[in-house]
Amino acid sequence: MQKQSITAEDYLKSIHELTEYRGYASLIDISKLLGTARQSVYDEINIMLEKHLVRRIERGRYVLTPSGQVDANKFLRKHRIAEILLFRGLSLQWKNLDDQAMGIEHGMTDEIMEKVCQKYGCDRCPHGNPVPDREGNVEQIEDMKMSGAVQGTGYVISRVIFEEHSILEFLNENHIFPGTEIIYTYDGQWSLDGKIVAFPENVSGALRIQMIKRTAETLH
Ligand code: FE2
Ligand code: FE2
Repeated sequence: MQKQSITAEDYLKSIHELTEYRGYASLIDISKLLGTARQSVYDEINIMLEKHLVRRIERGRYVLTPSGQVDANKFLRKHRIAEILLFRGLSLQWKNLDDQAMGIEHGMTDEIMEKVCQKYGCDRCPHGNPVPDREGNVEQIEDMKMSGAVQGTGYVISRVIFEEHSILEFLNENHIFPGTEIIYTYDGQWSLDGKIVAFPENVSGALRIQMIKRTAETLH
């Protein structure tokens, strides 16, 4: 993927996603995710600290402040609507949407976003993440981690909270998307259409699931 120049908005998005994924954003993870030098991340974090957009929870680990989160959400609105446009309007591949949205998200005007929402609806991005409103409010989705699943129960994939490329590649290869139904079998394995899927830890940690109401008496 070719890198565009990294903006403050990109930092907000990365810190938000990493915090959703593992509870905080470290300098090294931000630098890997944005493909930028650690020193640049360090400099930008210092600016964000001064603006009270982030706070340090311990050495090298940061989270967004409430005002940083609102700014991140306003940008995530543009990003997620850009993904909807690229997916629904231009049929770009699902696994590439997060990367490709980087090319157009900064130029998403209110008028463009309104048209996309009118035409395709914009509740969720194609990875299942909620589109914040104009003020930066976002719907809280009631879903759970895969580690909390109960054996012999069916679940639906609710969303991919960390849209990192290798995670999206794995899901795409295994035909697993928001809305896909999977079963946590009595053997403690995940089954998809009768086929066992072994989720690597980085992938299972990035997924959120919702229980399917009907119970799975017929499971083995
Ligand atoms: Fe994304
Ligand atoms: Fe997305």
